[in-house]
Amino acid sequence: ATIQIIGVPIDLGQAHRGVDMGPGAMRYAGLAPRLAALGYHIRDTGNIAVPIRETLCEERQQHYLPAIRQICRAAYEAGRRAVEEGAVPLFIGGDHTLAIGSIGGVTHNAPAGLIWIDAHADFNTPATTLTGNIHGMTLAALLGEGDQELVDVGRPGPKLEPADVVMIGIRDLDPEERTRLRESGIMVYTMRDIDERGVGAVTREALERLEHRERLHVSLDMDCLDPQVCPGVGTTSPGGLSYREAQLLMEVLADSERVRALDIVEINPILDQRNQTAALAVELAASLFGKRIL
Ligand code: ARG
Ligand code: MN
Ligand code: MN
Ligand code: MN
Repeated sequence: ATIQIIGVPIDLGQAHRGVDMGPGAMRYAGLAPRLAALGYHIRDTGNIAVPIRETLCEERQQHYLPAIRQICRAAYEAGRRAVEEGAVPLFIGGDHTLAIGSIGGVTHNAPAGLIWIDAHADFNTPATTLTGNIHGMTLAALLGEGDQELVDVGRPGPKLEPADVVMIGIRDLDPEERTRLRESGIMVYTMRDIDERGVGAVTREALERLEHRERLHVSLDMDCLDPQVCPGVGTTSPGGLSYREAQLLMEVLADSERVRALDIVEINPILDQRNQTAALAVELAASLFGKRIL
């Protein structure tokens, strides 16, 4: 099988500088050779063009919505083409706004289930956000809510049904975002569920919940991990997945043999310690794509 690496160095969906260096950090940490060693053919098609924040002063009031829409449209086309060519797209970010394009593109010709692994739900709309940061609105846009320009990226309308989405690792919600999420019908496995039942049981149940979708897209926000093992992200949240829990989560997903697309987002090398967050991301990608201990 072919894995196509698509870099999306977008930093416009949030406020911290440095997320645009995430794709380089993952490449330097050995992403391609690590996956090639598992027997995949790796095709790295480079980075999608992203304008530099300093050149977009007039978009600041709009939280860079016009540029984000353009970049997500390019990510959409890249994902759609990769799938049409039979490859597995691996989107490396960049902040989580890129998933508006990646998940849209992957579902262009056929639906997919989404496994959203994140400390956050990114389920705000412009009416509920406390920050205005568009990375906190990604999943709402994919379900058809919020700014119409984001909802309609790639093709008009919602890209997913609530029943197509399962969230794992959630622990940090804004008040109105929380209300929206509770009323959405999305299956949410919080950190409490993981603490009580274990990540293996939770992940197997998540896969069953998406049984009506043969193909799965995994969207991995690295802030799902505990900041102690994963300091290089802009929105840390204590009480996250341990290294071992994240590995097991990936291994159980790999066992399903249904993963057809992956995003790895929010790595910020400026906030990191010696690229350890990117190195961990590469290890998790290897486990998701079938690395076995024995
Ligand atoms: N809920 C917060 C917001 O709306 C944080 C979002 C964090 N999102 C992320 N992709 N890391 O701004
Ligand atoms: Mn997050
Ligand atoms: Mn604002
Ligand atoms: Mn996120």
